[in-house]
Amino acid sequence: MLYPSDAPQSADLFARASEVIPGGVNSPVRAFRSVGGTPRFMTSGKGALMTDADGREYVDLICSWGPLLHGHAHPAIVEAVTKAAQKGTSFGTPTENEVLLAEEIVARTPAQRIRLVNSGTEATMSAIRLARGFTGRSLVVKFSGCYHGHVDALLAEAGSGVATLAIPETRGVTATQTAETVVLPYNDPQALEELFTQRGDEIACLITEAAPGNMGVVPPVDGFNQLIRDLTARHGALMISDEVMTGFRASAAGWYGIDPVEADLYTFGKVMGGGLPAAAFGGRADVMDLLAPAGPVYQAGTLSGNPLATAAGLANLTLSTPEAYEKLATTSTTLQGMTAAALYNAGVPHRIQTAGTMFSVFLFADGVELAQVTDYAAARTQSAARFAAFFTELLARGIYLPPSGFECWFVSTAHDEQILDRIDEALPYAAGAAAAVG
Ligand SMILES: Cc1ncc(COP(=O)(O)O)c(C=O)c1O
Repeated sequence: MLYPSDAPQSADLFARASEVIPGGVNSPVRAFRSVGGTPRFMTSGKGALMTDADGREYVDLICSWGPLLHGHAHPAIVEAVTKAAQKGTSFGTPTENEVLLAEEIVARTPAQRIRLVNSGTEATMSAIRLARGFTGRSLVVKFSGCYHGHVDALLAEAGSGVATLAIPETRGVTATQTAETVVLPYNDPQALEELFTQRGDEIACLITEAAPGNMGVVPPVDGFNQLIRDLTARHGALMISDEVMTGFRASAAGWYGIDPVEADLYTFGKVMGGGLPAAAFGGRADVMDLLAPAGPVYQAGTLSGNPLATAAGLANLTLSTPEAYEKLATTSTTLQGMTAAALYNAGVPHRIQTAGTMFSVFLFADGVELAQVTDYAAARTQSAARFAAFFTELLARGIYLPPSGFECWFVSTAHDEQILDRIDEALPYAAGAAAAVG
C-alpha cells in the first residue's frame, strides 16, 4: 500500500488553518516544517491506528506525544470520561478523583504531595517558582537539549520543537529572564561541578529531564543523576526531576523506577492524563507545603484537577499494570530490532537509544559513526535530510512517526504483532529512501 504524496482534505484544512492559526498548527511540533509536506489532520483513532481527513489509516508512533500508553479510544478510558462528563464537566470545587489520582502518583513515585495542573509547562513553571520561593534564590540551571515546556526561563537551548525548528533564541524572552538561567551541556559532570563550585549559593534549582527524550532519547550516563542530587543537596539547591515524558511510561514509576535517585520536586504529565489535559508537580512535603493556601507561594488553576481529565488519567494508570509494562517493553524492543535491521541492511549509519520502554532513532550521514549520543551537540550531528526521507516514505506507507529526528517514538499496549508486521513491511522501503539521500 502506498498513499499518494498529496492529501487533498488535509491540505484544504491546513490552508484554512493557516488563515486563522499561526503556522496552521496549535503546537509547532505538529507542523511538517523539517520533513516537508502537509500535516495530516486526524479524524479518529482506535488502538494503534489513526485515520486522517482523507480516510487514510496510519499506525501511530506518536501516541499523542506520549500520553496514550494504551492506544486510542481505549474502552475503559472512553467509559471513564463519558461517565464523568455525564456527572458534570467542571465544578471549581475539590472532587474525589483528584484525591485518587494524587494518591496513585504518590504510591508510584517518591513524591509526598501532588498539585494537579493542566499541562507539563504549567507543572515546570510552578515547580521553579516553588523552588525559588523555598530557597529564596533566583538562579535556575537546565541542560541544553532538554525541553521543559514553553516556560520563559526554560526555553534556552531547548529540545523538541525548538530543536527541530532550530530556533536560536525565542523572541519575547527578556534578557533578565535568561540572565537567571544557566544552561549546561548534558552528561558533563565537570561542567556541573564547576558551576556549583562557582555559583552554588545562588542556585535555586536544577531542572533536568529524568532521562531526556526531547533531543531524541539521550539517557543520563551512569551516576549523572546522582551527581546532580549530591551537588544540589550540598549547595542548598533543589533538584527538579522532569518526568513529564518518562513518568509512568519509561516504567511504572517512570525513570525513577530505573534510576532511583530521589529528587526534591518532580513534574509529571502525559500518561497521567490519559490523553486529556492533566499534569502535576509534586515532591517533598516540606517544600510542597509552601504552596498556597498552605503557604505563601501562589499557584492556581480554574480547570486544575478537571473531572474528565482525572477520570481519564486514573483509567490510564489503572490499565498500566506490570504486565502492561512488560508488553510495552517487548513491543519497544521488537520495533527497535526491526528498525535497526532495516537501516543496517540499507547501509544507513544510525543509532537507537533507549530509556526504559522509550526509544528514538538517530540517522547519520555516510561516514558519521557515533558510538553513543550523550548530549545535544551529538544529537545535532544527525542527518535531517535522511530523517525527512525516512519519515516521508513511512508516511506514504501508513506509518506515522514523529515529524522530527529529535523526538521519541511512542508505542502503546495496543501495538500488537499485526501492527508490528505492518511496520516491518514498510521499514525496508523507508531505510532505502534514507540511504538514497546520501
Ligand atoms: C520533559 C517534558 N517536560 C515538559 C513538557 C511540557 O509539557 P506540555 O506540552 O504538556 O506543556 C514536555 C512536553 O513534551 C516534556 O517532554
